[in-house]
Amino acid sequence: MWLKISPAFAVLPGQFFMVKCGENLLRRPFSIYSSEDDKYAIVYRVVGQGTAWLSKRKEGEEINILGPLGNSFEIPEGECNMLLIAGGLGIASISFLAEKISTSVHRVKLLYGAHDKDCLLPPSFLPDGLDIEFVTDDGSFGQKSLVTDLAPPYLGWAEQIFACGPLAMLRGLKKVTAASTIPIQVSLEARMGCGLGVCYGCAIKTKDGMKLVCHDGPVFQLENVDLESMAI
Ligand SMILES: Cc1cc2nc3c(=O)[nH]c(=O)nc-3n(C[C@H](O)[C@H](O)[C@H](O)COP(=O)(O)OP(=O)(O)OC[C@H]3O[C@@H](n4cnc5c(N)ncnc54)[C@H](O)[C@@H]3O)c2cc1C
Ligand code: FES
Repeated sequence: MWLKISPAFAVLPGQFFMVKCGENLLRRPFSIYSSEDDKYAIVYRVVGQGTAWLSKRKEGEEINILGPLGNSFEIPEGECNMLLIAGGLGIASISFLAEKISTSVHRVKLLYGAHDKDCLLPPSFLPDGLDIEFVTDDGSFGQKSLVTDLAPPYLGWAEQIFACGPLAMLRGLKKVTAASTIPIQVSLEARMGCGLGVCYGCAIKTKDGMKLVCHDGPVFQLENVDLESMAI
C-alpha cells in the first residue's frame, strides 16, 4: 500500500509507522518498505481486524498514520560484505535497507524465506540487481529449507548481518551464528500499544536492562537481546 504524505520527510530503513486501522482499534505498527519522493510504502498480510480494515481501503482514501518511529539499521561506512536475512514479512524492512545500500560500495547477499510461495514477495517487488536466494518451508519456491540454514556458508564472508523475521527465525539465527563474531543487527517485533514509549507494552529484556522495542528499537544487536524471554 502506497501512502502519499506531503510535505515529504526523511525515513530510514528499520523505521515504522503506527497506522490507525479504523475507529475502535489501537494503531498497528508496519515497517516502512519503500519510499519515493512524498510516497511511502508498507506491505502487509491480512491476519486480523486491523489488516482486514486496511485491505478494504480504496485508492485516494485518507488514513491516519504516526511516524516515522523507532531507530534504524546502521549501514557501516566503507566497503563491507553484507548478509541480509528476511523471514516472512520481515522482508519489508530488509528490502528497504537493501534499497538504501549502495551496491557499488558494498557487496550484498539476501537470503529470503517464507512459509510457501504465496507468502513470498515476487522478485519484481524487490530492489533491482540484488543477489537473492529464496527458500520456502514447503519447497514451493526455491530450496525447501529454513532461511537460517542457508546462513552458515556465508559466515566466513559476511562482515555485517542484518535480519528481520519471526522470533523463531531470530532464535535459529542466534544458534547458527553462536560461534561467530560478526555483528548482527536485528529488527524485532513486539505487540505495541502506543508506539511512543508510553505504555511499556513492548518492553523486552536485554543485556543493558529492559528496553522498549518502539522507542529504543526496533533494531537491536542480536547478542544483546534475550530472545528466550520474548513471546512473539
Ligand atoms: C516494528 C513492527 C513492524 C511490523 N511490520 C509489519 C509489516 O511490515 N507488515 C505486516 O503485515 N505486519 C507487520 N508487523 C506486525 C503487524 O503490526 C501486525 O500484523 C498487525 O498488528 C496485525 O494487526 P491486526 O489487527 O490485523 O491483527 P490482530 O487482530 O492484532 O492479530 C491477529 C493475529 O496476528 C498476531 N499478531 C499480531 N501482531 C503480531 C506481531 N507483531 N507479530 C506476530 N504476530 C502478530 C496475533 O497474535 C493474532 O494471532 C509489524 C510489527 C512491528 C512491531
Ligand atoms: S508500544 Fe507503548 S511503550 Fe512501546
